[in-house]
Amino acid sequence: MSNTLQKLQDLEPSAEEFAAAVHAGLSQAAKSLPCKFFYDFEGSRLFDRICELPEYYPTRTESRILEKHAGDIAQLIGPGARLVEFGSGAGVKIRLLLSALARPAAYVPVDISRLHLLAAASSLAKDFPRLVIAPICADYTKPFDLPAPTGAAPGATIGFFPGSTIGNFTPDEARLFLVNARQLLGRSSLMLVGVDLRKDEAVLVRAYDDAAGVTAAFNLNLLRRINRELGGTFQLDEFTHRARWNDVLGRMEMHLVSRRAQTVEVDGRRFSFAAGEAIHTENSHKYSISQFQALAGEAGYAPRAVWTDEAELFSVHLLEDARSPGKA
Ligand code: AVJ
Repeated sequence: MSNTLQKLQDLEPSAEEFAAAVHAGLSQAAKSLPCKFFYDFEGSRLFDRICELPEYYPTRTESRILEKHAGDIAQLIGPGARLVEFGSGAGVKIRLLLSALARPAAYVPVDISRLHLLAAASSLAKDFPRLVIAPICADYTKPFDLPAPTGAAPGATIGFFPGSTIGNFTPDEARLFLVNARQLLGRSSLMLVGVDLRKDEAVLVRAYDDAAGVTAAFNLNLLRRINRELGGTFQLDEFTHRARWNDVLGRMEMHLVSRRAQTVEVDGRRFSFAAGEAIHTENSHKYSISQFQALAGEAGYAPRAVWTDEAELFSVHLLEDARSPGKA
């Protein structure tokens, strides 16, 4: 056992929070559910399968970018860094960074899926025995504290937000997230963010509606979770997965569409659906490089570097706190 793996800081959202969000979302005229609740144990497992799908290009493309430029990224970050990852998941991409960095000091994985987080953290502790790992189970849109920096000469603090998860936020929410992250990480901190680029609609729709039906199962799992954790009565075969491109708002959307008129109960409350009525479950905004840099700028971040793949499917941005010493 590694003694550098610290005790979990557990701020996992409660069942009451989940219930309140579901009741609020299903009570609206346009029904919606927050996508962060996709990631129960089964949902996190389904998401890991999505990452392996031939149609789902983001994971593989971003990993190639990180692999190819890991040396440059490590140079820009410097030695002794403290890394904070928002939505750390299975912990695959962080390995690419950690392997390239000089003497990384600490790693703080933050994830909403507790069991998944613990499994990933202990597996990482085996592979990086000298690294201090301080896992936090939390909804990272809510406030939480970082463990104090350790070591004699602490290096930079760097946020890592891969996968284009930032696309799940509306531009306003993304700006707010970045402002909060910049404050959490502190003065002179850096932020490494993966951002999916705008591209051909057909490529996008295939990525969110794969032939094997894994994304459909991922979307529908949210209803299964409501049934299990909140005493819901959703019949999964009475809803269908829909993925569509919203050109006005520049985003992929996922919905769950009711096949017929029906009433569902959740925790004893009834919600009626018309035939064809949808629950909006996820947005995945796509940005151009300059669009994203402008948004980050409004949040107080200056672009330091940006990398893309040859087909320009995906981008990885290194941002720095615009208040850093030496910056105007
Ligand atoms: C993990 C949030 C980046 O929005 O592309 C994958 C989740 N949804 N397929 C994304 C997801 C449908 C994914 N993120």
